[in-house]
Amino acid sequence: MKALILFSSRDGQTRKIAFYIANQIKEERECDVFNIQLVDEIDWAQYDRVLIGASIRYGHFQPVVAKFVKTHLKELQQRSSGFFSVNLTARKPEKRTPQTNAYTRKFLLQSPWEPDCCAVFAGELRYPRYGFFNRIMIQLIMRMTNGETDASKEVEYTDWQQVTRFAHEFAGLPSKLSKKNTLR
Ligand SMILES: Cc1cc2nc3c(=O)[nH]c(=O)nc-3n(C[C@H](O)[C@H](O)[C@H](O)COP(=O)(O)O)c2cc1C
Repeated sequence: MKALILFSSRDGQTRKIAFYIANQIKEERECDVFNIQLVDEIDWAQYDRVLIGASIRYGHFQPVVAKFVKTHLKELQQRSSGFFSVNLTARKPEKRTPQTNAYTRKFLLQSPWEPDCCAVFAGELRYPRYGFFNRIMIQLIMRMTNGETDASKEVEYTDWQQVTRFAHEFAGLPSKLSKKNTLR
């Protein structure tokens, strides 16, 4: 059976990570990768595992993520599943675990879904591509947290080795679906 990978991304980094994961595990698992905002009807019978990745803006995941979880809770619970979050706080290694990354910890605490594996990845800082307001705001946040403030810079903090390790952890999760269940 296939793996379903869904991403919620505003500037493209979570999308990039989702496709990277699919590519890393393609020998083990056939994958479909979709934008969680655009996905319509899902043919769940094709999938024995689901991975959701989402980025943070101003402290929040896009509401569509929690909505998707609520709508498809049964399908998520029946399958092996994983979650990853992407944000700039995670550029600091000590804020890069589900327990130490406040956005991720809060999401997991509030969510009725309990993914079998979870990771936090550092995202990308792209000053030149932000509009005026966002550039000023991000500069302010970076100044307050001892980060990069040079507005001419684009910095990718994502640790691709960490992403690779997580991809294989997700691909290696034992399947929860028995043959009987898949026929339903
Ligand atoms: C307008 C804006 C607000 C952001 N707010 C936060 C934030 O509150 N906390 C954080 O850790 N990162 C924040 N980020 C950083 C993003 O999470 C990071 O750039 C990530 O790579 C974006 O992923 P995406 O391209 O998939 O949307 C923000 C970025 C932007 C552009």
